[in-house]
Amino acid sequence: MKTAVITGASAGLGQEFVRQIQSVFPEIQEYWLMARRADRLASLAETLPGVTVKVLPLDLTGPDYISELSLALERDKPEVSLLVGCAGCGYLGNFDESPLEEQLRMLDLNIRALTAVTRLVLPYMPKGGRIIHISSIASFVPNPRMTIYSATKSFVSAFSRGLHEELKPRGISVTAVCPGPMDTEFIQLGRIKGNSKTFDVLPYCDPVQVVHGALTAAKKGKAVYTPKAFYKFYRVLSALIPHAILIHAAKT
Ligand SMILES: NC(=O)c1ccc[n+]([C@@H]2O[C@H](COP(=O)([O-])OP(=O)(O)OC[C@H]3O[C@@H](n4cnc5c(N)ncnc54)[C@H](OP(=O)(O)O)[C@@H]3O)[C@@H](O)[C@H]2O)c1
Repeated sequence: MKTAVITGASAGLGQEFVRQIQSVFPEIQEYWLMARRADRLASLAETLPGVTVKVLPLDLTGPDYISELSLALERDKPEVSLLVGCAGCGYLGNFDESPLEEQLRMLDLNIRALTAVTRLVLPYMPKGGRIIHISSIASFVPNPRMTIYSATKSFVSAFSRGLHEELKPRGISVTAVCPGPMDTEFIQLGRIKGNSKTFDVLPYCDPVQVVHGALTAAKKGKAVYTPKAFYKFYRVLSALIPHAILIHAAKT
């Protein structure tokens, strides 16, 4: 049975991926949902008739998720056609004033867990498999006041691009998705709303459209997907203009 594995499935973009996968990948009949809030995952599972759902309530910054996911994979040996690495967090604030715990959480979740889950799942992914990693426009140019977050997303984009090339001989693609701001829990948890002039003026992306575009891009085997013309233009600018200049506009 073809399986999709989705991290960060309990809210925001991840939840939207779960809702839309069937419309773009109707052949996938089993979903593995990962996040900490088991109740949310169970409620979401009830809205998915006709597919088998496995709920994995794991803390992807904790000590046990690697062994628990490894065990589940070894036991069930799923044929993973699609992996969506969506779990992520980002906190606004100057580096020397922000809690170290939050800074390390961004590294653990956005970098370590994304890497570990991808590495663990890959042996179960056959030819034609698709990986989606959620990066951000923050990966294009360093964002002062979200310095750690933007550095983690630079990792996600660079990791995804390199892996996309590495996995070509296996017929597997990796798509780095680079959205702008979206009105999800992320914005509240990161204390962003009302505290950043940049976020106040930037156009917001619609998670429904982001997910549709991301799934379509992944199906086509694209390496990068940036939603919205405004941010596509920003991506081109970031490749042409020295970051020493752009970094002033990129300050959050
Ligand atoms: N919203 C934006 O403005 C924006 C813009 C660009 C990129 N992004 C990226 O988009 C992705 C999705 O973000 P979102 O906007 O959908 O945020 P969200 O609504 O806050 O969702 C984050 C998801 O990650 C899960 N998660 C958080 N900590 C976790 C942990 N320790 N272990 C396991 N799962 C954990 C959460 O579930 P639990 O709390 O249940 O664990 C939730 O399902 C992230 O990678 C984010 O960096 C967001």
